[in-house]
Amino acid sequence: MKAIAINGSPRKGWNTEKLLKEALRGAESVGAETKLVQLYDLNYTGCKSCFACKRQGAESYQCALKDDLAIVIEEIFNADALFLGSPIYFGDITGQMVCFIERLGFPLLSYDDYTKRLFDGKINAGLFFTMNAPEAFYKSNMEQSLKNRAGILQRLGGTVEVYAAHDTYQFSDYSKYHTGIFDEVHKRKVREEQFPNDMEAAYEIGCRLTSLNNKF
Ligand SMILES: Cc1cc2nc3c(=O)[nH]c(=O)nc-3n(C[C@H](O)[C@H](O)[C@H](O)COP(=O)(O)O)c2cc1C
Repeated sequence: MKAIAINGSPRKGWNTEKLLKEALRGAESVGAETKLVQLYDLNYTGCKSCFACKRQGAESYQCALKDDLAIVIEEIFNADALFLGSPIYFGDITGQMVCFIERLGFPLLSYDDYTKRLFDGKINAGLFFTMNAPEAFYKSNMEQSLKNRAGILQRLGGTVEVYAAHDTYQFSDYSKYHTGIFDEVHKRKVREEQFPNDMEAAYEIGCRLTSLNNKF
């Protein structure tokens, strides 16, 4: 079994990567080989609308563009579980993650029939969001549109789960930055009391989504 995590945060070792690493630890606990990909280390673009994936006779569920994402996408189609992690920037996933999803997702979509599945395998997918927003704001203003982001992942044929971690700790030392809109004491409390629960949830999602594909 294989599980791949894609970090859509430019900050290595921070909230998003921490959750993804827990998901991978969960995947390892059920016997998977794992890999973490840092999107911000790669040179790639979003979809260039070349339509190679829609050509008569050459329709493919894999993007034809040959840049640093090509090998990553190839590996994803040989995996059992895929974990995507993104911080929320201006109410949405990061630009790098948008481009990644265009490249993974557009070739999965048939222009003959939206209901047709081009990829007939099964890859279970977990989508992890981290954000400054507290849970109530996420639920009322962001949850639905962010869950829609997971829609294209349904075309991977597996189970899709979405998890959001709220009120994340953003600076290692709040006193060194202009952070007047944040209550650092509250943020620290969330980091100490809630974030460990988020990590545990990520671990469990990692176990669950990977073991769903265990044929033994
Ligand atoms: C450019 C930028 C825009 C952001 N916009 C939002 C936002 O709209 N809503 C929000 O809740 N948090 C926002 N944040 C905060 C991050 O989503 C949050 O700190 C996240 O947990 C960072 O993930 P990381 O620690 O893995 O980098 C923004 C951060 C940056 C740098």
